[in-house]
Amino acid sequence: MTEKKLIAPSLLAADFSNLAQQIRCVELGGADWIHCDIMDGKFVPNITFGPLVVEAVRKITKLPIDTHLMIKNPDQLIKNFVDAGSNYITVHQEEVIHLNRTINWIKELGANAGVSINPSTPVSSLIEILEFVDLVLVMSVNPGFGGQKFIQSSLKKIEELSKIRKEKGYNFLIEVDGGIDKKNIKSISDAGCNVFVAGSSIFGKDNITAAAMELKNFIKK
Ligand code: DX5
Ligand code: ZN
Repeated sequence: MTEKKLIAPSLLAADFSNLAQQIRCVELGGADWIHCDIMDGKFVPNITFGPLVVEAVRKITKLPIDTHLMIKNPDQLIKNFVDAGSNYITVHQEEVIHLNRTINWIKELGANAGVSINPSTPVSSLIEILEFVDLVLVMSVNPGFGGQKFIQSSLKKIEELSKIRKEKGYNFLIEVDGGIDKKNIKSISDAGCNVFVAGSSIFGKDNITAAAMELKNFIKK
């Protein structure tokens, strides 16, 4: 399971005036998941979309929907996002007080549970929860916007998580989000990343399908 290498295009950089066509393009390019960035203008200084759009995405694609909650008080809306069709729900460690309870609840609702850490949050803050999560999302930019530069020290965090997973025999996937492009994707993969979120380096290109395919080729075993 931990050998998985998956591409998760982030809709944040997509053309929302034609979401169905944009999703079709990444599907043709071999996308494995669709990453939905949910922002509330409070946890991060930007606003995106809510369960209604996730529900629309659910109708467009059969690919797993990977919902990244960058919102205050995520507990309040988790059920709405699961009901909308999310397969993975990821919450931020920095925002959730009773993380164990929240992770259990996501699972009880029938979704896979993920936890994310901002660039300034250490891996050590996750030690007690790693056993229970399906996914750990390492933010490699400060959340809120697409098109930022990859923070190089994220590589150490990925390696650290990969080491702990191996030593303890845990099963969580390691996902990395922010600033991933064709120049750095191989090194991120070598550090132990399983799921690669990419917005601008896919949807920002003229040929979306070719861009997804190209990224995928770099991480093929
Ligand atoms: C940032 C979001 C990312 C974003 C990545 O807060 O969580 O998913 O879409 O965009 P790029 O790939 O452009 O850095
Ligand atoms: Zn994201």
